[in-house]
Amino acid sequence: MKIMSIFLIFCIVMPILGQPLPHGEALKGRWKYSDFEKPEVCKSCHVDIYQQWTQSMMSQSYTHHWDEIEYFDLAVAHAEKVPSLKDAVDGCNGCHAPLAYMAGDVPPPRPAANSRANEGVSCDVCHTIRAIGSDPPVNFSYVASPGRVKYGAKPGLKSPHHDTEMLDIYTQTEFCGNCHNEKNPYDIWVKSTQLEWKEGPYAEQGVTCMQCHMPKALGKNATMAKEDMVAQHLFHGAHDPGKVAGTVEIRMHPEEREVPYDATVAIKVQLFNAKTGHKFPSGSVEDRILWLHVTAVDANGKEYHLPVDKKDFDGEAYTIASDELAYQDMGVPRGIANFAGVGRDGVPVGDRIFRMPYLDPEGRMTIMQWNTKSLGVDYRIGPRETKIETYTWQLPDDIPVGKITFKAQLNYQKLVKPVADFLNVPADESEIMVVNTATTYIEVYE
Ligand code: HEC
Ligand code: HEC
Ligand code: HEC
Ligand code: HEC
Ligand code: HEC
Repeated sequence: MKIMSIFLIFCIVMPILGQPLPHGEALKGRWKYSDFEKPEVCKSCHVDIYQQWTQSMMSQSYTHHWDEIEYFDLAVAHAEKVPSLKDAVDGCNGCHAPLAYMAGDVPPPRPAANSRANEGVSCDVCHTIRAIGSDPPVNFSYVASPGRVKYGAKPGLKSPHHDTEMLDIYTQTEFCGNCHNEKNPYDIWVKSTQLEWKEGPYAEQGVTCMQCHMPKALGKNATMAKEDMVAQHLFHGAHDPGKVAGTVEIRMHPEEREVPYDATVAIKVQLFNAKTGHKFPSGSVEDRILWLHVTAVDANGKEYHLPVDKKDFDGEAYTIASDELAYQDMGVPRGIANFAGVGRDGVPVGDRIFRMPYLDPEGRMTIMQWNTKSLGVDYRIGPRETKIETYTWQLPDDIPVGKITFKAQLNYQKLVKPVADFLNVPADESEIMVVNTATTYIEVYE
């Protein structure tokens, strides 16, 4: 009898203890869609939070046009031609369509089918995360535990709809790192926002992702709750022009204010990353382009474009705009033999670009992060880092005396324009967002 009950306890307890908490690839097909509640259920009480979330990229992580285009026209199409990519391409959904991934519904139906994949990174995806499965967090390493308990950052809250439990992970950056750090099949860190944060000044001072992307404000987190400081669910980032604006402060000054008509002048531009907690750009670095455009206007109103001075570091060629072609590897999923590629940059030749190029197995630039075999020079602007760019200019022979005004403009595009045009991605993904501008002047004398 005793032996029997010990045996029974053993049978019940061991599988629970022995079972590794499922996270990452073990989540595939581990749950059912019906294990997760719909955001509309949460909406009935968490009205404000729901409306914020619907405006954020979290709710559009599967349905957003560029996500649909890249996933189906490049990633799924690539895996059809190269079957060894199947697991990695299924894995896109571990972060972009977590419910579909956990239900084993991969690839999920297209967004137009209106399946539950469309819920994206939903309330119940985040609030049923019970633990972080790996250190460092990477590739949807969240431990999902759907059910009655909604986990959060506040202790002892009471809700008529669910139980609540406070877990420390809800105030830790690793929680976000579950999906904001990513390694690809070549073992390359193709996304490392949380790791960048960890190496930077904000980690040391305990300024978390939540403090900048989910700032707290006085309000009610549920219709029946008391007023309190509430974590906003804005998740505003690269898709919010207001968030991007002013991220980098720029200042410029000449080496000399008053110069003779035949002088060679030098202008310096300082770029100080005052706002991001990670590098800028971060996240989808393979898609993004951040560039500095400098012009001069003489006393007659004639405009000149000034190319940046070279610094001669390894890999610098990727950081100075050119009209060469790149992204030839898109030819494979698109079924174009010997594809010549499209423009690498699509911005004025000679402008400085702050980027880190992703290189395919043949060493050509790629936007297909899963096809990245190495990373090029990292010339992004780190958190609180200042970079200085110099523009040396021999004044043209016919320069009039009087004032020359210089203007520097730092621009940002979420997706390089030639790629956006090639794949027919709607224009808002390649709109030019102005991060900041600066001006200075010199006086030319006879
Ligand atoms: C019937 C109303 C109602 C519904 C429906 C509801 N909640 Fe709540 N929820 C509450 C109330 C009330 C609180 C406590 C608020 C307080 O006292 O600050 C709460 C608290 C929470 C918290 C905070 C937990 C903590 O410890 O910090 C989370 C997270 C949460 N709810 C998530 C959800 C999610 C996800 C859904 C949908 C699946 C949902 N809720 C549906 C009423 C509701
Ligand atoms: C990307 C993950 C994520 C998503 C998606 C998400 N939340 Fe949260 N939520 C959090 C985190 C993290 C916190 C705690 C933040 C903090 O305290 O700094 C939080 C806090 C909350 C709180 C407590 C707020 C407070 O400070 O009183 C409620 C309630 C809540 N979430 C409900 C929801 C609902 C409802 C949705 C969907 C409409 C949702 N969340 C979507 C991550 C998420
Ligand atoms: C379950 C995975 C997951 C978790 C957990 C998660 N995110 Fe995200 N997040 C995503 C995905 C996927 C996107 C991209 C949406 C898109 O554009 O397709 C995204 C987008 C964002 C964006 C918008 C970026 C832009 O380009 O506009 C911000 C900001 C963000 N997340 C912040 C956070 C923060 C802060 C946390 C932690 C509190 C967090 N995320 C946790 C998956 C996640
Ligand atoms: C000190 C404030 C601050 C902190 C801390 C911070 N961010 Fe950001 N984040 C920003 C700003 C400002 C932007 C807008 C500029 C940009 O797009 O990079 C941004 C942009 C982003 C983007 C879009 C990046 C891009 O260029 O496409 C993502 C994703 C993101 N943050 C996630 C996170 C995560 C995850 C953490 C924590 C590991 C975090 N952030 C910590 C301020 C912060
Ligand atoms: C580990 C989680 C993770 C995996 C796996 C993942 N992504 Fe993402 N993806 C993200 C996050 C987080 C962002 C937002 C980064 C940012 O805004 O800079 C993002 C951004 C994107 C964007 C850009 C969205 C925009 O509007 O700028 C596209 C497109 C995309 N992912 C497609 C894919 C495809 C296709 C795959 C599979 C090959 C994939 N992702 C795998 C987390 C992931």
